[in-house]
Formats: sequence, structure tokens, C-alpha cells
Amino acid sequence: MNYKAFVDEQVASIQASVGNHLAINALSGGVDSSVVTVLGHRAVGDRLKTVFVENGLMRRGEPERVVHLFSGMGIPVRLVDAKKEFLGALRGLTDPEEKRNAITRTFYSTVFGKLVRETGAKYLFHGTILTDIEETVAGIKRQHNILAQIGIDPEKEYGYQVLEPLKTLRKDGVREVANILGLPPEISGRIPFPGPALATRIVGEVTEERIATVREATSIVEEELENTGAFQYMAVLLGDKATGMIQGRREFGQIIVVRCIHSVDARAATPVELPWDKLKRICERITAIKGVNRCLYDLTPKPPATIEYI
Ligand code: XMP
Repeated sequence: MNYKAFVDEQVASIQASVGNHLAINALSGGVDSSVVTVLGHRAVGDRLKTVFVENGLMRRGEPERVVHLFSGMGIPVRLVDAKKEFLGALRGLTDPEEKRNAITRTFYSTVFGKLVRETGAKYLFHGTILTDIEETVAGIKRQHNILAQIGIDPEKEYGYQVLEPLKTLRKDGVREVANILGLPPEISGRIPFPGPALATRIVGEVTEERIATVREATSIVEEELENTGAFQYMAVLLGDKATGMIQGRREFGQIIVVRCIHSVDARAATPVELPWDKLKRICERITAIKGVNRCLYDLTPKPPATIEYI
């Protein structure tokens, strides 16, 4: 594919769709939403309002990092605090699809519905990619950002139209476009991180305490594995518990799974054969987190597993 031509086509198509109206988009700092942000600003300038939705499910330091990085590129990003809304919607839910559904509804209806009314935006840009659509349509998983393809009409339900400039690309294509747009390697090479964020890394109920545990484990795993060249790596908090010993006392504690995979486009994945020393160090650091007494390494390829746990 000629990615330069792709950029020109998308810029022209965005201009034609948006016209003189206002558009809005949510930036998470991942490569997909970053590319959409830059494409959108290239097409319609400050008629695109970019927001970072702080859903309380982000990794440590992420909101500040993203706002700072984009303001350095001349793109202002408004931080919207929606922690209460997301945590409230997730309270008591344990079923993976119900959790995803709660996040979708909170994002598009509660948070974006309000922002759209406030700003008068008519369009919402999305970083949906081809793999998201395929897996959702195939019924493997409902990605949080798929609406039209599953029969939700955002205009009718939420009052705005959705534009998805990346929906013909896979992850490797998005990275090519990121490079063409001059995004720094810290974004174009960033490992995928799902829209529902740390909620996809928690099996069972998402509570503030459980988010704090998985956030801490995520920092450790990302720090230890950033030089592996792997496609994606993560920490997952399981819903089960296990008996362990903490300071000589028995404790029924939390279990963290570490996953590190090779993949080209997330459709299939194989586990990375990490050196034993590396695994041991990760295990030591993770079991030092309060309340965690086991750390497991996941050897399952995709298929039969998916990459995320919910
Ligand atoms: P799975 O778990 O389906 O993940 O094998 C495939 C790739 O997609 C990412 N992923 C998501 N990305 N919204 C996203 O933006 C989502 O709801 C979502 N679910 C999974 C996952 O991290 C992996 O790279």
C-alpha cells in the first residue's frame, strides 16, 4: 500500500466530510488515536477538538505524558476527568462483555454525549482499525470502539456521526502512517494498549484497589520488558486467589499473570521465550506488591487464547 497517498486521501476525505463543522476526538496516546489526532488536525486544524478522557483506568503518569507530548507538537489536548463515571458504571460487574459494554456506554453516551453538547461538535473521529472490526463482526470480542458494524447508529443514539479514517489498516499499517506523519518513535513504536485500558487487565470486578494493583504490576512489566522488541506485554490481575506466605503468615492473596507476545497484527500471537533470569526478577518485583503472592507467565498462543483476558 502507498501510505503517503493514504494520508493525502484521508486528509481530503476528512475535509470533505467535516466541512465547516466542529469535530472532536479522544486521544489515549496509543498509536491509533495519535494518528487520528494528527490526521484530523492536518485536515481541519483547530476545528478538531482533542480530549484525553481520564477514565481512572490508565497507566501511571499516562494522562500528563500524553497532554505534554501533543502540546509539544502544537496540538492542544483537553484533559476531561471522568473517573467517577467509569468506576461507577463498572461497579459490581464481573462479566467481560458487560464490563466492555459499560465502558462503551459511559464513553460514547455519558462522557462524549456531554462533550458534544458542550462543544457543538458534529463529528467524532475514531481510531478503529480493521482488526477491531473483523473480531467484533466475527463475534470473538466486542471491541469498545465498534458501533456501526454492530448496528448502533451513533447519530440516533448519541447525536453525532463517527468517522473512522484508519478502518482499512491493520496495526503495522498504522505504524507506517505514524512515521509518515512524523510522530515520534515513542508513539509510532508504542505497544498496543486497549481502549478499555486496565479494565481489560482485571478479571472480575474493577475496583480502585484492584486497579492500583494492576497499575503497579503494569509499570514493572513495561519497565522490565521494554527492550524485548515484543509486540505487546502486560500484567493481568486474576479473579481467583491463592494461598501464600507473607512474613511467615498464611495469606489468601492475589495472582498476577505476565503475558509477553510476538505478533504482526494481533490476529495471531506466540509467547516470547523470555530468559529465566528476567522472569525471576519480574516475579520477585511483582510479588513484592502488597496483597500479591503469585506471579505466573502465560505460555498460551493466540489462538486458542486472545491477547487480553477479557
Ligand atoms: P485480543 O485480546 O482480542 O486483542 O486478542 C487483539 C489486540 O487488540 C487489543 N484490544 C483492544 N484494543 N479496544 C482496543 O482499542 C479494545 O476493546 C481492545 N480489546 C483488545 C489488544 O490489546 C491486542 O493488541
